[in-house]
Amino acid sequence: MKFNSCFSKCFSLPSETAIIDIRKEEPEPGNDQNFTVFSYSELKVATHGFSASNKIGEGAFGSVYKGLLTNGSIVAVKMLSIELESMRGEREFVSEITTLTNLEHENLVTLVGCCVEGAKRFLVYNYMENNSLAQVLLGGEQNRIKLRWGARGRILLGVARGLAYLHEEVKPHIVHRDIKASNILLDQNLIPKVSDFGLSRILRDNASHISTHVAGTLGYLAPEYAISGRLTRKTDVYSFGVLLLEIISGQTVVNFDLEHGEHYLVQKAWDLYRANRLLQLVDPVLGMNYPEEDAVRYIKVGLLCVQETARFRPEMSTALKMLTNEIDIGVVQISQPGLVADLMNIKLGHKTTFRSHYTKASNMESTPSSLSSCS
Ligand SMILES: Nc1ncnc2c1ncn2[C@@H]1O[C@H](COP(=O)(O)OP(=O)(O)O)[C@@H](O)[C@H]1O
Ligand SMILES: [Mg+2]
Repeated sequence: MKFNSCFSKCFSLPSETAIIDIRKEEPEPGNDQNFTVFSYSELKVATHGFSASNKIGEGAFGSVYKGLLTNGSIVAVKMLSIELESMRGEREFVSEITTLTNLEHENLVTLVGCCVEGAKRFLVYNYMENNSLAQVLLGGEQNRIKLRWGARGRILLGVARGLAYLHEEVKPHIVHRDIKASNILLDQNLIPKVSDFGLSRILRDNASHISTHVAGTLGYLAPEYAISGRLTRKTDVYSFGVLLLEIISGQTVVNFDLEHGEHYLVQKAWDLYRANRLLQLVDPVLGMNYPEEDAVRYIKVGLLCVQETARFRPEMSTALKMLTNEIDIGVVQISQPGLVADLMNIKLGHKTTFRSHYTKASNMESTPSSLSSCS
């Protein structure tokens, strides 16, 4: 059911005039023929009544269900669980969602529509067969082995392209705010699709809890964002750098083991960089099956993206060129990265708490014994 035909059904608008009025407020939607405002009953049928067996995930914004539409397409339905006061009203919500639908890029997940039912809000996305990168990274060696070097490289470049599009081609630009492995979905060909971009737009301005809702895993947060809430494109670049290190190493941003306790991937990468042993960071499940030169270059780009000082981080289009070797990273100076050390005790927005826990990587050096031996 397309935008015009089902709008009144979903919103119980009194007349045709109201429909036309809303459409006039739209900022010239370019492809709204692809945008569907679903009725609640359509989504209920598609997801077997939002049954537990259809549930595929749960995130900061709410639960996600797999659904089958009557036209045969498979979708992921996100039921937003944000309090109504902080959510935009019906018209604004649909308007913002329409704008997001106009963003089209091979590396962005396609938002096919939305639905409003009373206080409830839903977003409907194309379903991604291979779930998210988080599943691969957290799924142990068995899962990581399937992700060979070539696939990892394509994922990195794809995510970089998707972000460069949001940052540098979309006007006004969009800061993602929540780049992390679970927001990188993988389609049937393992093509990466960045998801959850622009979600802050559906929240009312100044929503007091906006940061906690949107900011996902603390390990991906740029220090300046964690400390002061200052959000720029360079905040995303930092998160991208962390993601890159995760993809290459097969490790998550914060790791824990009995021998070393909690340790941080960014710190480890920096230690190995200074010890000139960068290849030790590469996921051991890859064996020797990767080009060393590319691996070193990728890790250096990752380190450059997580620089403590935001202005030393490259723009996404530059990072992309460095990854593809169009720009020589060999001549770029890499200084120490910044990281938020004590993740458990941090509360967003409380400066005093942050200061005591925020540490430059150099101040918390690992002992050599915490690194595996040089090969
Ligand atoms: N379009 C989609 N296709 C397939 N799985 C999805 C899709 N969107 C989300 N998911 C799954 O649902 C989970 C929860 O998603 P989300 O609510 O965005 O939370 P988060 O991003 O914090 O993990 C994801 O980790 C992913 O496994
Ligand atoms: Mg998500």
